[in-house]
Amino acid sequence: MPFQQKFSNEELVTFLSAKGTEINSDQIKEAAAHFGVKTQSVTKRLGKHPQFTKGSRGVWNLTVAEKLEQSYQAPAAVPAVEDLVPQKDPNYVPFGNFADVKKIVQSGMFYPTFITGLSGNGKTFSVEQACAQLGRELIRVNITIETDEDDLIGGFRLVNGETVWHNGPVVEALERGAVLLLDEVDLASNKILCLQSVLEGKGVFLKKIGRYVRRAPGFNVFATANTKGKGSDDGRFIGTNVLNEAFLERFALTFEQEYPSPKIEQKILEKAASSLGVLDEKFCENLSNWSDIIRKTFRDGGIDEVISTRRLVHIIRAFAIWQDRMKAIKVCVNRFDEETKTSFIELYDKIDADVVTQEVADDQQG
Ligand SMILES: Nc1ncnc2c1ncn2[C@@H]1O[C@H](COP(=O)(O)OP(=O)(O)OP(=O)(O)O)[C@@H](O)[C@H]1O
Ligand SMILES: [Mg+2]
Repeated sequence: MPFQQKFSNEELVTFLSAKGTEINSDQIKEAAAHFGVKTQSVTKRLGKHPQFTKGSRGVWNLTVAEKLEQSYQAPAAVPAVEDLVPQKDPNYVPFGNFADVKKIVQSGMFYPTFITGLSGNGKTFSVEQACAQLGRELIRVNITIETDEDDLIGGFRLVNGETVWHNGPVVEALERGAVLLLDEVDLASNKILCLQSVLEGKGVFLKKIGRYVRRAPGFNVFATANTKGKGSDDGRFIGTNVLNEAFLERFALTFEQEYPSPKIEQKILEKAASSLGVLDEKFCENLSNWSDIIRKTFRDGGIDEVISTRRLVHIIRAFAIWQDRMKAIKVCVNRFDEETKTSFIELYDKIDADVVTQEVADDQQG
């Protein structure tokens, strides 16, 4: 039996379509020689192919429908993103673990790092800004209980009526040598275990398409979480799960991110206020002292809630809208229960003697 080279119908059509829409017997012979098969093998395939119809004198007509062109352009399910380096934020104030996070990124080493800490204290922001300052690509994936292998590694997507393989963010980061941020990883289910080999620095085998993806230099994984992956007893972080011990073990080190000191937090607020054109240094100082007392009381078990850096920035934004310190605080602490809200407002009242509460202002007007 003569040696027959394997070739797909697509390859055959691509070869023939380059010759035009009327394929004569010489061109068919050419194709047969090109693919190392008999002429009859080619004509047999053309006879079965929907885009070819047999004409007279051995000529085959190729229907170059738009659909055909589309199918050969193999539409990319993942839009080619040129640059995944995050933008530098002039409002970012480095503190705490930032220098170490940046050092890890800068080292280019594969060193999976876990950052744990209370909500809104700059965990995600620190990884993003470390990459921004170093010009490194970052792919951030927000993990939920629904996140599975398809979301992380990839899967088939329907594009223009065809199923096309779509690289998930993990594969994309592996191939680009980017930093992968598994944000809020403690919300994950056990389906996150599909990342075990990736966390060992080994790349991943795409079993659905039979391709092995290696880790490009520079690839690293950061994970952020409000807990240490051991669940949350006090009910503050509903939805967090106990993560598999073997998964946690694959992270080389853990940073415990604290809220910034009052001085740093004041600087953060001043920058946020300046960028909005409402810089009031005294207000920023009062807010950072206020949150500091609240956090100390929280740590001592005196209250169940804290004011995060994120919430303070929300207050500054509200201040930019209403130019009213107390109103800004009130609208931003309304999310807490009545008792907590009242105690927060009363505390601020004590810190900022000049602040005029709405009730007092109403009384004065009336
Ligand atoms: N170092 C900082 N410099 C400037 N702003 C900061 C800084 N840290 C935190 N912030 C402010 O706090 C917000 C929340 O930060 P970030 O999203 O990183 O918190 P997080 O710790 O990841 O919170 P969560 O656990 O809820 O995801 C930022 O959007 C920013 O407004
Ligand atoms: Mg975060």
